[in-house]
Amino acid sequence: MSRITLTVNGTPHLVDVEPSVPLLYVLRNDLGLEGPRFGCGLGQCGACTVIIKGEAVRSCTRPVSTAQGTDITTLEGLARDGVLHPLQRAWIDEQVPQCGFCQNGQILTAKALLDRNPHPTDAEIRQGMEGALCRCMTYYRIQAAIKRAAKEMAS
Ligand code: FES
Ligand code: FES
Repeated sequence: MSRITLTVNGTPHLVDVEPSVPLLYVLRNDLGLEGPRFGCGLGQCGACTVIIKGEAVRSCTRPVSTAQGTDITTLEGLARDGVLHPLQRAWIDEQVPQCGFCQNGQILTAKALLDRNPHPTDAEIRQGMEGALCRCMTYYRIQAAIKRAAKEMAS
């Protein structure tokens, strides 16, 4: 076991864990953050996505030790002082989720996309969201919500 400091949504946490344990397990089981989901556990679906250094990364295959000293953002960190992030509002307005299981990964992948490209074209949205899988096929509503959020963030 090792003592590892993780800064999650701006708050530092000291955890006593095996360095090779996936970051996802620590976020969910040790820190009680249930935004990131366990889907495939193989880095292939995106349900476990978090943002590290501006990049949407898969926390199910990332050893917790590699996240030490970085700022980690989870879905729980998007709202500020009780005010939803424009993406979260757009997700509600467009009624994106169906079963909801993949939506953590969709929203965080979308946030990383808009942070690096505030005005993505449809093609850029499709490319940026590639790999965030949805078994309920909510892709058209996801695209509409990203465009809605981008418009709101620009105004
Ligand atoms: S649970 Fe991590 S990519 Fe599927
Ligand atoms: S909303 Fe069901 S898997 Fe995406």
